[in-house]
Amino acid sequence: MSQAAARFNDPLIHHWMPFTANKQFQDAPRIIARAEGVHYWNTAGDKLLDSVSGLYTTPAGHGRREIREAVTRQLEELDYAPPFQFGVPGTFRLAHELAQMLPAGLNRVFFAGSGSEAVESALKVAIQYHRVRGQGQRQRFVGRARGYHGVNFAGWSVGGMVKNRDAFGLGLPGVSHMRHTHIEPNRFVMGQGDHGGVDLADDLQRMVDLHGGDTIAACIVEPIAGSTGVLVPPKGYLERLRAICDQHGILLIFDEVICGFGRTGHPFAADAFGVTPDLMTMAKAITNGNIPMAAIAIRQDIQQAILDAAGPDAIEFFHGYTYSGHPVACAAALATLKIYRDDDLFARGAALVPKFLERIASLRDIPIVTDTRGFGLLGAVDLATDGAPGKRGFAVLRRAFESGLVLRVASDTVILSPMFITTDDQLDEMFTLLRKILAAV
Ligand SMILES: Cc1ncc(COP(=O)(O)O)c(C=O)c1O
Repeated sequence: MSQAAARFNDPLIHHWMPFTANKQFQDAPRIIARAEGVHYWNTAGDKLLDSVSGLYTTPAGHGRREIREAVTRQLEELDYAPPFQFGVPGTFRLAHELAQMLPAGLNRVFFAGSGSEAVESALKVAIQYHRVRGQGQRQRFVGRARGYHGVNFAGWSVGGMVKNRDAFGLGLPGVSHMRHTHIEPNRFVMGQGDHGGVDLADDLQRMVDLHGGDTIAACIVEPIAGSTGVLVPPKGYLERLRAICDQHGILLIFDEVICGFGRTGHPFAADAFGVTPDLMTMAKAITNGNIPMAAIAIRQDIQQAILDAAGPDAIEFFHGYTYSGHPVACAAALATLKIYRDDDLFARGAALVPKFLERIASLRDIPIVTDTRGFGLLGAVDLATDGAPGKRGFAVLRRAFESGLVLRVASDTVILSPMFITTDDQLDEMFTLLRKILAAV
């Protein structure tokens, strides 16, 4: 048998894994087989502590019975119905509940299946909103270096992560990027740095000066840039973006796919920072990660303008997904929101924040650590590069898995985002393990 034919029966080769070093993985697989509470188990039965809440998805813990039962009930009652020109009860209930939670004014909700789809949806709403108001010339978007807005074409175009862009061509035209917000004077600061906020946000003003404010449809940012390594906005930054947007009729979009649902110690980052966007994306923790789902929240008058511009029987927004508001996802989301309320989980998460940030900051004395930062239950530790960028980060990921800890790395940055149900003892265990790992790489 040829080597290729022999490999055909290798159980690992047929799945092309996302954002993964596939060849490397096949040689040393890390397979997670079971989860409960704050723990995973690998295929050998070893227990692992989850320090990232899944992928920022699962703050209420793995294996929540209430969600499982709601999903089962929904599957028994209505597994699927088409979302175009038909409705299912759960979408209306969920949109209504979200409208009660969201910052004032953001009370129209459109559903999608992933964060990437939510971003595309928000950008399309922005373009159409301007168009129906006679401002079809507003077609530019402003994003930010090191921003992550998913992997679809518009999302990576407004995003600013080089590796997500450079293999895929030119992307969306008319996109400009502001500088990212990670600057030297704010190194080793927990919470918002004192430096650079207004100056960095004035990059948007420079785009206005260069292109004309009336050519820009929207400015999209993550309030805290998550995937790139938890870049917390310096003081005054988001406020200044808001002011420039208001001055020039530019829509401000907050991508809260990571920040939403209590991650910042508040329901949304918009609440934490006291700045309300015009559109907001949400995903991940909306179903505690149990079923794929995403949403965008839209200012009421933005939706109204689009509805008003169409005839009485016309479809107003030619956009939607087969799985927009999937009934099973809605059931999972409604059960998740009930857990958040019944267990007062955002408050429980918020109570954990001071200890978590203190623990992140305490890693500063490790010689390879070049920065520590965090906000809410999002923390990051930068490591000095060891030869090639990403080599040391990957070594940490691998060694952590072998030591019973699941964490996230972005190049040479370690990211932690614990579940809101994490106990003090589990937090201690997380940082004891991490310290040991960082001392060894
Ligand atoms: C801020 C932000 N936007 C969008 C996305 C894309 O979400 P998805 O992977 O569900 O498409 C992510 C994913 O991590 C994200 O962090």
